[in-house]
Amino acid sequence: AWLRYAPLPSSVTRGHLNSFPNHIVALNAAKNGPLSSAASELQKGIKGILGLSLGVSSSQKSCSAQKTIIVSTLASYKSACGKLTPKLDLIEDGYWLSTKGESVQIIGQNERGALYGAFQYLSLLGQGNFSEVAFASNPSAPIRWSNQWDNLNAGTAAHGSIERGYGGVSIFFENGYVKEDLSRVPLYGRLLASVGLNGIVINNVNADATLLNETNLEGVKRIADLFRPWGVQVGISLNFASPQVLGDLDTFDPLDETVIKWWTDKSNRIYELVPDFAGYLVKANSEGQPGPLTYNRTLSQGANLFAKAIEPHGGIVVFRAFVYDQLNESDWRADRANAAVEFFKDLDGQFDSNVLVQIKFGPIDFQVREPPSPLFVNIPKTAVSIELEVTQEYLGQQCHLVYLPPLWQTILGFDMRYNGRQSYIRDIVTGKTFNHKLSGYAGVINVGMDDTWIGSHLAMSNMFAFGRLAWNPQADSQDIVEEWTRLTFGVSRDVVSAIVSMSMKSWPAYEDYSGNLGIQTLTDILYTHYGANPASQDNNGWGQWTRADSKTIGMDRTVSNGTGNAGQYAKEVAHMFEYTQTTPDDLMLWFHHVPYTFKLHSGKTVIQHFYDAHYSGSATAQTFPTTWKSLQGQIDAERYEDVLYRLKYQAGHSLVWRDAISEFYRNLSSIPDQLNRVRNH
Ligand code: GCU
Repeated sequence: AWLRYAPLPSSVTRGHLNSFPNHIVALNAAKNGPLSSAASELQKGIKGILGLSLGVSSSQKSCSAQKTIIVSTLASYKSACGKLTPKLDLIEDGYWLSTKGESVQIIGQNERGALYGAFQYLSLLGQGNFSEVAFASNPSAPIRWSNQWDNLNAGTAAHGSIERGYGGVSIFFENGYVKEDLSRVPLYGRLLASVGLNGIVINNVNADATLLNETNLEGVKRIADLFRPWGVQVGISLNFASPQVLGDLDTFDPLDETVIKWWTDKSNRIYELVPDFAGYLVKANSEGQPGPLTYNRTLSQGANLFAKAIEPHGGIVVFRAFVYDQLNESDWRADRANAAVEFFKDLDGQFDSNVLVQIKFGPIDFQVREPPSPLFVNIPKTAVSIELEVTQEYLGQQCHLVYLPPLWQTILGFDMRYNGRQSYIRDIVTGKTFNHKLSGYAGVINVGMDDTWIGSHLAMSNMFAFGRLAWNPQADSQDIVEEWTRLTFGVSRDVVSAIVSMSMKSWPAYEDYSGNLGIQTLTDILYTHYGANPASQDNNGWGQWTRADSKTIGMDRTVSNGTGNAGQYAKEVAHMFEYTQTTPDDLMLWFHHVPYTFKLHSGKTVIQHFYDAHYSGSATAQTFPTTWKSLQGQIDAERYEDVLYRLKYQAGHSLVWRDAISEFYRNLSSIPDQLNRVRNH
């Protein structure tokens, strides 16, 4: 991935090697802790990038030594070397990095911070950046987690499948158990740490209760031991019915004493094995999963059951807001987008203080374009985090290049105007707006055993960027992909400009040839979530409807005549979405049911926009293989061929998308394309 530590060309290193530090001092590093990893990572990286072999010591005398890289926690630095100037305002996991003067200082607020600082320093070196820097850096929020949707496949001979995973089988599980060979785990930990991620939930939210059997809990301990040197804490997804499914109770009622005792005992056992266990992730009463509603208990009573069981150990419960029921499309007012607010609004204030409600970025399900979930402004007394999807479920499943940060930043940068005040999503999920300490980000990453980790070389920029944005949601998407490209493919200007240009064009292009104007990704909704299938969106209970007929299209989410969803937003935003005059074009069909001939702000009709966007989006995808080919010889043959194969496939598949969607709506609406490109069947 991006941790290749490939040698820099001598033209880049010239003049820098003689003055480079010749020694690493790791002050007071705990055995097998993140600081030890930082020291060995520095050794390894500097050897790879610059060809220099540096020794590591822990000697205090070296504080004042010149040409040294000191890596330490702030506390150890102060006790060994006296005070550090300038005075630092570091929060948990933050670091100070200075390359000014003759020694390099990498000082973490804790060991993890020191490790993040070391990776940041190596990123600068790996990019050939020898400029003098001195800065402190703090994470935007304490929770920066990977979520893996790995299955145990208990009772089968299957090798740990991954729900919506496109990079091979699980690195954790096979045949119902934690694997014997966990050799990919520390490598994954290293990747996560290198971009500041500090936690992971290792199993699918559609959770298998057998993860809680004793053999598997000992396996979870082995996994946690392998992640610990990288500062990555482990959590697990729970099956709400476990006391009944796995235990021998005849109930899983969250208020039942025997159920409470069952979970308390289980939690105590987990903490015996994994003292720094991160906590539980819970999907309840959603898509067939069991939950407290079965017993007429509230979702908060369900969440608090676990919260109380792990509170004494310092753990947290991440309770997912992705709760909805199947709906009937003949009801004009039915709307899945309303579900989260309907289920959670009245529970605000009822969750224990160690519960975090994890909200998918939009109200439906990781579509190519959605407004932010209105739940973000409906439960101000509740700690919340945002769920993003790194794995490209609806977005091309790693067979299409779609660089996601511009989509994520559209959400993070949206001002929700709570009480008429500025309230960006990024400030809500970092706890600032409503003053919550517990806050942050989850990325459904879904790496597997594939050499590329997630199934495609270029898709790894999304994982890299997820970490970077969780650290700093205002970081620039383009800067991030530039950095990633230099580290992954080398510092050549041509390579960087080609990959960055394709990446930055890729989300708009995918939106153009998949689903426009907020109609959602017009993919197969019933099974694969892959490929064009606009007809599949309607006439089912899933509620991802387009309500397209021969004259009109779009969901009416207005208060005046529709599902009322626009009214779940704060006043100014609700007002904006209520009217077509103020709704932006890219969300027009999300909020409004209009004729195909409706004129957008752009001046085009809806149907002509569909045609034009599908042609221009697929035309952009046609340029990707050509752009990539310009790099032949500058990228190793294996990755060159692999990426070329995928980009050619994308170019072809974008034509399939273009024609399938354009012709579908041409037939349905009977309105021809003004440019006569679209066939009529
Ligand atoms: C989507 C996805 C499912 C997943 C669900 C969830 O619906 O297709 O595979 O289980 O989201 O996030 O719980």
